[in-house]
Amino acid sequence: MQDPIIRVRDIAWVRLGAPDLDQAEGFLTDFGLVRQARTEAALFMRGTGDAHHVHITERGPDRVLGIGFTADSEADLHRLAREAAGASGVEALNEPGGGKCVRLKEHNGFTIEVVHGVATVEKLPERHSVLNTGRARDRLGKFQRIDPRPCQVKRPGHAVLSTPDIEGSVAWAHRHLGFIVSEHVHAEDDPETLLASFNRADRGADFVDHHVMMFGRHSRAGLNHISYEVQDMDDLHAGHDWLRQRGHYHLWGIGRHLLGSQVFDYWKDPWGRVHEHWTDTDVLNAAMPTRSVPKSQGLRSQWGPQAPQEFRDAASV
Ligand SMILES: [Fe+2]
Repeated sequence: MQDPIIRVRDIAWVRLGAPDLDQAEGFLTDFGLVRQARTEAALFMRGTGDAHHVHITERGPDRVLGIGFTADSEADLHRLAREAAGASGVEALNEPGGGKCVRLKEHNGFTIEVVHGVATVEKLPERHSVLNTGRARDRLGKFQRIDPRPCQVKRPGHAVLSTPDIEGSVAWAHRHLGFIVSEHVHAEDDPETLLASFNRADRGADFVDHHVMMFGRHSRAGLNHISYEVQDMDDLHAGHDWLRQRGHYHLWGIGRHLLGSQVFDYWKDPWGRVHEHWTDTDVLNAAMPTRSVPKSQGLRSQWGPQAPQEFRDAASV
């Protein structure tokens, strides 16, 4: 494969279109995001981390408009604009939070926004559970009390694209975003047939999430899901009950993935776009080699329900 043009730092946001911003904000608030800004045209939601926003909804048709990734420097944006086929110029983001952006067309035509200089904000106070486990008693003389509430989403975690040409998608992401492959899943009886590819950011010796972008082989191209990290197990379970009681569409979970090891829970927004909560991911650094496993050792839950067909077929455009 060709050397990367740049290596992005992390995922920044998803940008979706929706015809009703009130309805979008209702779902996203129950999902555990917090309104940072809202204009006539768009809604910007944040997590508890220092990113100005991690989710954008633009008023308009139900569409996946883009996935954002953060670059280390403005120089990286200029490098992409110069060297990536079909890239936009370096443009100012004319929206709350500001910053600069280069827009790329991903292998299947989806818009990837590589951004730098978006405003940061004060972190929000976080609630963490202290757990007494079989290994250690860490909560001494204090009570565990969890009021009914949404999750506290901390930060975006990853995006998953369904793609008919998975090899092409992986090569594109390596070349333009600098991703390295954490694990490949191949057909049970054929190591040459790639079914899924879990890609992480290359941050050298620093440990990063097992995947910041995943590709799954599918007959249709589309966004399978967007994913957000929550505070811990209690937070994820409390958030599950909150979303269920508020009548939202539950798709899959709660379980623990095999590849990546996250404890997960999947919900659909009012337009069917899949949003994931997770906690407790594996973290790897660039020194760790790519693993390749057959389907039976890859795409399943270690506990909890297995994926319904509706999840496997999700491909929003
Ligand atoms: Fe996920």
